[in-house]
Amino acid sequence: MERTFAIIKPDAVKAGHAGDIIRLIELNGFDILRMEKRQITREMAEQFYGIHQSKPFFGELVEYMTSGPVVVMALQRDGAISSWRELMGATDPKKASLGTIRRMFGTHIGSNATHGSDAPETAAFELGLFFPNL
Ligand code: RTP
Ligand code: MG
Repeated sequence: MERTFAIIKPDAVKAGHAGDIIRLIELNGFDILRMEKRQITREMAEQFYGIHQSKPFFGELVEYMTSGPVVVMALQRDGAISSWRELMGATDPKKASLGTIRRMFGTHIGSNATHGSDAPETAAFELGLFFPNL
């Protein structure tokens, strides 16, 4: 069993898609170990997306992730990291496959409904950041 970290981003929470996304997570066999609705602080967002600090979209990304409440989750499943990335779809909702969360609920690349860890090391870092007691 593998664990990954997921976020339902502010745009999707605001639009009322959290319930639909959680349902898809359950239908796809993930065990939701932890789940919390919370506001991410600027410090937390900057730390969380630290890898993108030098990118031109960093400021916009931090603004967006702190623009409203999010739902953070610790998910568990066989191959949780790649399975969750697959269910989310491509970063750009326009390029995401039919049936993926980003295709269904994302609006554009900077507003793409969900986050998922991209590797075991990032999953461990992100889970530790948001769920230190897990
Ligand atoms: P995430 O980390 O949020 O799960 O997304 P990801 O792995 O699919 O994509 P990543 O490369 O890690 O980028 C993080 C987030 O930055 C925004 N982004 N904007 N304007 C742009 O060209 C651009 N590129 C990336 C996206 O919101 C992406 O989710
Ligand atoms: Mg990423």
